[in-house]
Amino acid sequence: MDVEQIRRQALEDLSKASTTTELDQVRTKYLGRKKGLLDQVIASVPGLPPEQRRAVGKSANDLKNELTRLLDEAKDKLSQKPPAAPRSDPTLPGPRLRLGHVHPLTQTTRQVEEIFSRMGFEVVLGPETETEFYNFEALNIPADHPSRDSFDTFYLSPGVVLRSHTSPVQVRVMESRRPPLRVLAPGRVYRPDTEDARHASMFHQVEGLMVDERTSFADLKAMLFIFAREFFGSETKIRFRPSFFPFTEPSAEVDVSCFRCKGKGCSLCSGSGWIEVLGSGMVDPAVFEAVGYDPERYTGFAFGMGVERLCMLKYGIDDIRVFTQNDCRVLSQF
Ligand code: PHE
Repeated sequence: MDVEQIRRQALEDLSKASTTTELDQVRTKYLGRKKGLLDQVIASVPGLPPEQRRAVGKSANDLKNELTRLLDEAKDKLSQKPPAAPRSDPTLPGPRLRLGHVHPLTQTTRQVEEIFSRMGFEVVLGPETETEFYNFEALNIPADHPSRDSFDTFYLSPGVVLRSHTSPVQVRVMESRRPPLRVLAPGRVYRPDTEDARHASMFHQVEGLMVDERTSFADLKAMLFIFAREFFGSETKIRFRPSFFPFTEPSAEVDVSCFRCKGKGCSLCSGSGWIEVLGSGMVDPAVFEAVGYDPERYTGFAFGMGVERLCMLKYGIDDIRVFTQNDCRVLSQF
């Protein structure tokens, strides 16, 4: 190999070297002591014909200097190279965290609580597992009475049930306090209903109870009217239909005027213009007796409403199962 060939090869090798290790390999290959290609050329000079020695020796030395300079420059360049770009850009906005929010049933419960708390009601809680006494007997529902069927529930053991309504909380509150009372008891209730778009074996109610010396049906009407207008809109009317509950006398189902068609009749109200929203009545004297209140001195009213139903009506939800299916596409809309 003559010096010119070595030069071309060296420049090519140099151009391919992209790391300091590769540069060192090039340096050893061409400039290495004794074994390097150029040292070999220089070592061969004394054996050349005298007229060539000077030229070959000079070009080999020139190339040695040139390569040394180029290698040094290449090495400097590599060590100045900025570090590899960071894998993330700290100036970009971070990934968005999806914030959860309050479940629509909890929102509805809180709205009801808020409206009644402005009328002096206090929120109280009772157990979801109840004894038959609180769920039935104390509420004037004897074991052999046909009305028991409509409140039938799941038995955990003889005498212990999952409460089928929030009314037992009325009894627990009256047992532990004296009138005047204004309490609101929200919570889960259970019934052995087959699930469909309108029924669930677990749902929520809000119970209301007011007891004082002169509490009347007019108080019940006024407070439920205020509630209906606050919850469903200021144009809402209410209507009381005579009904029966073992623990109230007289009893009434309460309807609100259909807030969608304003009472004209539509699919939501099945054409009647009215929607049933709750059960209510004056506390039956038998319930006062069960808790040791004097029914001659005290009167009171109670009401109970289904939270799922209120929420479905208000937001136009047509299937009760969406509340427990945990589908964020649905829940995030409320
Ligand atoms: N507890 C009744 C029910 O579950 C509702 C109700 C409560 C009725 C209070 C009257 C008074 O259907």
